[in-house]
Amino acid sequence: MHPTDKIVSDARAAFDAAATVADLEQAKSRFLGKSGALTELLKGLGKLSAEERPKAGAAINEAKVRVEDLLAARRDAILAAELDQRLAAESVDVTLPGRRQAGGGLHPISRAQERIEKLFASMGFAAADGPEIENDFYNFTALRMFPDHPSRSMQDTFYVADSDKVLRTHTSPVQIRHMQSHQPPIRIICPGRVYRVDHDATHSPMFHQIEGLWVDEGVSLADLKGTLTQFFRAFFERDDINVRFRPSYFPFVEPGVEIDMEWERKDGEVKYLEIGGAGVVHPDVLRNGNIDPERYSGFAFGMGLDRLAMLKYGVNDLRLFFDSDLKFLRQFR
Ligand code: PHE
Repeated sequence: MHPTDKIVSDARAAFDAAATVADLEQAKSRFLGKSGALTELLKGLGKLSAEERPKAGAAINEAKVRVEDLLAARRDAILAAELDQRLAAESVDVTLPGRRQAGGGLHPISRAQERIEKLFASMGFAAADGPEIENDFYNFTALRMFPDHPSRSMQDTFYVADSDKVLRTHTSPVQIRHMQSHQPPIRIICPGRVYRVDHDATHSPMFHQIEGLWVDEGVSLADLKGTLTQFFRAFFERDDINVRFRPSYFPFVEPGVEIDMEWERKDGEVKYLEIGGAGVVHPDVLRNGNIDPERYSGFAFGMGLDRLAMLKYGVNDLRLFFDSDLKFLRQFR
């Protein structure tokens, strides 16, 4: 056999034996590499006579092309086999059910809040906002809860050390902030988090309130009564709910009332439930908000948002709202 034919048949055998592309590269170097069989033959050309050289050179080049063709064919075959294998191993069963996106949902408090905002918006109330870390002036003094006033201890809260900052005990400071930056007519609600040192089944150190404020010429307690009665009936989707206003005291209103909502309990007995406080804004409070009490009057209210949500959704323990128990929360999805 001619030496180039021998090399070609050796290369075919070596390539066929290679199982992977890496094996094939190894085998390739034995024939086409720097010191491969064909390269060695080329190096030997110089020793041949001038007549023999072209023929021998042509034979070597022809052999080189054949080896390269064999190599390419074998590489394609190995790659195709590897692909087949991967396709078989990694095949997807398209008949399996898909992985579902876990459905999130609004927290019941947020849901109640959105609903309340919508209902008040339909009565012309905009939503306002204020800081949760409030200073003493806005949280207490501007609302006539002076430094030694006993009502301060009823709203004991968390103080920021060495400052006049407190975690706001109610949403009422937003009344002052809003009046200072707006002139009447003012019609706002302000839902938000508030803080007090309290913890049991119906009290949590953090809870939510909704503040309301309406200031304009000639606004009276009658407007408060109408607005809130309308709100409760819409919120609970019942036309027969009665609202009771019980005289009470808050330093920032005069007169002040406690808002009680008629609530039928399971045993059929009709009961009233306390939902919040309200009243006609005290003239000094209007002044603190740069509003002329000779010309304008208004009412304000503050309601427990968590309590409204408890009643609306039939939840009997306030703490459930803040435990982050998914079994509880999923029911509101
Ligand atoms: N801020 C009062 C409280 O938290 C409630 C209130 C608001 C009373 C507005 C009257 C007017 O107890």
